[in-house]
Amino acid sequence: NIPSKVHLIDVGPRDGLQNEKQPVPAAVKIELVHRLQAAGLKEIEVTSYVSPKWVPQMADNHEVMSGIARQTGVRYSVLTPNLKGFEAALLDRPDEIVVFGAASEAFSQKNINCSIAESIERFAPVVAAAKAAGIAVRGAMSCTVGCPYEGEIPPERVDYLAGLMKGIGVERVDVADTIGVGTPHKVQAAIEATLKHFPIAQVSGHFHDTYGQALSNTLAALELGVWNFQSSVAGLGGCPYAKGATGNVATEDVVYLLHGMGIETGIDLDALVDAGQFISEHLNRPSGSRVSRALLAK
Ligand code: HMG
Ligand code: MG
Repeated sequence: NIPSKVHLIDVGPRDGLQNEKQPVPAAVKIELVHRLQAAGLKEIEVTSYVSPKWVPQMADNHEVMSGIARQTGVRYSVLTPNLKGFEAALLDRPDEIVVFGAASEAFSQKNINCSIAESIERFAPVVAAAKAAGIAVRGAMSCTVGCPYEGEIPPERVDYLAGLMKGIGVERVDVADTIGVGTPHKVQAAIEATLKHFPIAQVSGHFHDTYGQALSNTLAALELGVWNFQSSVAGLGGCPYAKGATGNVATEDVVYLLHGMGIETGIDLDALVDAGQFISEHLNRPSGSRVSRALLAK
């Protein structure tokens, strides 16, 4: 069942940086995107078109998107929670937009200020408008195993949300462990619930590493045949509406795991480590990637 090739989506510039308290200059974000594409990433989640009052760090979305020297064959995706965000994003021509919902009601309220049902009503016209404009559509599903406000989330909730996402025309979905509490069998149950609505090629794993389980969860997802994953260079990040949650699993660590298993990624690990060093130095903190720290210590 284990795939021979994996497609990695680096969400560092968006998920990784959105929670940084100090503004990160647009030029640094642009340079990070450039370094990621130079390392062989074929998909990069660049920014979000959300309220700058809610997430000030993403207020420079237009500057960042318009400043990137785009490379053919690389997909640039952005988050758009509503039509207002979509209309702003459209001017910057992303290849893909991401609507983001949650399997937990409380998280939906805290993150996007509406219920799950209301979020789907808001997403539907965004999805339709994106498709009409020839832009691909992904749906992020937060809290698929656990919620910072509601605790454990059963797979039935994921089944429900994935069905709603499918119903409005979302093309592929991310099974996210927003706060990194999942363990392999729970994550597999969330993925299996999603597979009732989406084929394996349209399901990706998005694992935060708060409890140190993200690589194990990645392997568990690989065992189900999942071959799309989101990760953050240097393990950057955390969600502003999920207190204490750390970053996504580090892209370097996932690449090391995959290459070690003979799985192709198309990524140059050394160049990726350099990209991670670049942003870690800017943030003035050690990289969250164990692989990066080990390689640099050699
Ligand atoms: P709201 O306050 O309910 O929205 O926020 P509203 O429609 O009532 O508008 C209020 C104000 O926001 C108005 O401005 C709007 O113009 C403005 P005012 O008249 O007061 O000056 N506004 C916007 N401005 C810019 N862009 C927009 C936009 N929409 C409204 N798109 C809203 C609703 C969704 C906007 C808000 O809750 C929000 O921005 N939330 C951001 C949430 C976010 O970005 N969270 C982090 C990303 S999700 C994540 O990290 C999880 C993920 O990684 C997967 C995982 O790990 O789980 C994807
Ligand atoms: Mg996330």
